[in-house]
Amino acid sequence: FGSLAAKVQRNPSFSTLNYDDISYFKEILGEKGVIEDEEWLATANTDWMHKYKGSSKLLLQPRSTEEVSQILKYCNSRCLAVVPQGGNTGLVGGSVPVFDEVIVNMSLMNNIISFDKVSGILVCEGGCILENLITFLDNQGFIMPLDLGAKGSCQIGGNVSTNAGGLRLVRYGSLHGNVLGLEVVLADGNVIDMLGTLRKDNTGYDLKHLFIGSEGSLGIVTKKLLMEAKRKLGEILSAFEFLDSKSLDLVLNHLDGVRNPLPPTVHKFYILIETTGSDETYDRQKLEGFLLHAMEAGLISDGALAQDINQASSFWHIREGIPEALMKAGAVYKYDLSLPVEKMYDLVEEMRTRLSDSANVVGYGHLGDGNLHLNISTAQYDDGILTQIEPFVYEWTSKHHGSISAEHGLGLMKANEIFYSKPTATVSLMASIKKMLDPKGILNPYKVLPHS
Ligand code: FAD
Ligand code: MLT
Ligand code: ZN
Repeated sequence: FGSLAAKVQRNPSFSTLNYDDISYFKEILGEKGVIEDEEWLATANTDWMHKYKGSSKLLLQPRSTEEVSQILKYCNSRCLAVVPQGGNTGLVGGSVPVFDEVIVNMSLMNNIISFDKVSGILVCEGGCILENLITFLDNQGFIMPLDLGAKGSCQIGGNVSTNAGGLRLVRYGSLHGNVLGLEVVLADGNVIDMLGTLRKDNTGYDLKHLFIGSEGSLGIVTKKLLMEAKRKLGEILSAFEFLDSKSLDLVLNHLDGVRNPLPPTVHKFYILIETTGSDETYDRQKLEGFLLHAMEAGLISDGALAQDINQASSFWHIREGIPEALMKAGAVYKYDLSLPVEKMYDLVEEMRTRLSDSANVVGYGHLGDGNLHLNISTAQYDDGILTQIEPFVYEWTSKHHGSISAEHGLGLMKANEIFYSKPTATVSLMASIKKMLDPKGILNPYKVLPHS
């Protein structure tokens, strides 16, 4: 291996480990978390292909985000170089030290924190071994969207840091799509919380993408991350939209040529489901079976199945026509929120109580994504009504760990409200990145980031 290392010069500004450093690490991690054992170090210094070999004298095993943060804060202040290490299955020499870097090994951070069967969202620590996650989800009737040959050893934190592709990418896409959030510790020990159990969140820069595939060069992926597991039976579902009766009324009253495909009984909610599979007969059978089952189980009270493409597009016209119908009805206060599905409609009802007869409060949106479009329709814009709505709507969303912009973005309207959805440290990091790329701030000023 000598020839590979010989091409790189050790950066002379990095310090060399001393006795005080080791004592400090023992203070924060305990004796067990500080590994100086030669055999252990020999393995950790060598990569999976036995092609690269470092000469680190120290391996640290943190058990929590806080410990990772303390390690990095100290190493940063002492100018000690660090190599984050997961399962050490990487194939490009990224996971082992080149010289005497301190190895931060993530194996002990291997807890599954939560799994939500409704949303398919898994939260776990960065050191979880991929195969354990695959088995865990399989037992719950779900599929991990990532699988690769190294699954028995590689860790999810390592997978994210390498943006591992693997065997299921063609079906489920890359980790950029499947990782919904991350918690990362930066080089200076700052913890950046980019978590949130939301499928949709358009409140500014999606910083987690900087870390996906950053190969441990920007931060250490720690305590939790969120994967979007796929429901085994959901393979043909392509849309799951909802509208309430007030949304339907708006469309029927304000748009031409819209007809309710159901008998005129008023239902509180309507769901529009679309499936797209590769076998039409099979897909139809599956959808009919689902409708029947849902009727029998009392989940739905009526339903209509589009018989052809024209009917399907007329069903879509009802859902897609809501924004236009709202515009025709008068002034609109529009909110685009990500919320836990079970809480979603509570906000609409609370808003109705708050505003009583002064406005028409409607709810519709992308139920399958946990994305509510709360729209408040009035004859004309009125500051009195606005103060009834804001900041209440943002506070409510923040209290329920939602996002104040699921898909529409922050723009000018919500730039100053960003803190309802993002921690201060994350906003500061966004501002630093903006400053780096646009030092004079000439691009779309006053948008996205807070401006006063
Ligand atoms: P490591 O090898 O320990 O580290 C890899 C990189 O990530 C290093 O730069 C390291 O510093 C960094 N890192 C590790 N953990 C963290 C963390 N928590 N925070 C920040 N940085 C971290 N790759 C594919 O993409 N597709 C494949 O199909 C595939 N198949 C493979 C099959 C085999 C048999 C083997 C041996 C490897 C394969 N790989 C594949 C490569 C490798 O398994 C992946 O890159 C894997 O994602 C690495 O995970 P790990 O936990 O072993 O990370
Ligand atoms: C929609 O889902 O209809 C669009 O996001 C527009 C809207 O929210 O009004
Ligand atoms: Zn929408």
